[in-house]
Amino acid sequence: MENLIELDKRHFIHPTSSIQQQQKDGAKVIMEKGEGIYLTDTNGNVYIDAMSSLWNVNIGHGREELAEVAAQQLKKLAFSSAFSTFSHEPAIKLAEKIASISPTGLNAVFFTSGGSESNDSAIKLVRHYWKIQGKPGRRKIIALKRGYHGVAAASTSVTGIPEFWGNGRTYDD
Ligand SMILES: Cc1ncc(COP(=O)(O)O)c(C=O)c1O
Repeated sequence: MENLIELDKRHFIHPTSSIQQQQKDGAKVIMEKGEGIYLTDTNGNVYIDAMSSLWNVNIGHGREELAEVAAQQLKKLAFSSAFSTFSHEPAIKLAEKIASISPTGLNAVFFTSGGSESNDSAIKLVRHYWKIQGKPGRRKIIALKRGYHGVAAASTSVTGIPEFWGNGRTYDD
């Protein structure tokens, strides 16, 4: 455990964290395992994971069936790019599935790695849309004060929490 705290201090940069605090106190908690709604740390403390980690463990921890299908797919094809119309079966089938359960009119899916990239992509897409409509000046994005939209360049700029901006927005036109 002590070794993990030292390694964390030396090599692990944590998002939205004070480096000074990390260096002084070490990691607040080091999680070891998860089962259903519970997480257990390296000291044996058990927590209810009330926010599904960062909202992405929607069906709970330790799901055997997910581990199995992931292992099968990783053995068959670990990754393949979708650039330049390259495609592959799992992405095609997932896009079709999402389209089938989405509201009418939402028929096609653009995959990203998470929320921040999704918001950056949405901002780029809407700006491209207005550009090809012949209205490139329509560039304003409206966001709520104190709203959180992620950590990428555009999504940080539309995040309404000044602490996220550092020395100024990176993307403020
Ligand atoms: C409303 C909202 N937008 C964007 C994000 C950023 O998503 P991610 O952490 O997957 O980049 C989050 C979550 O962190 C969020 O709650």
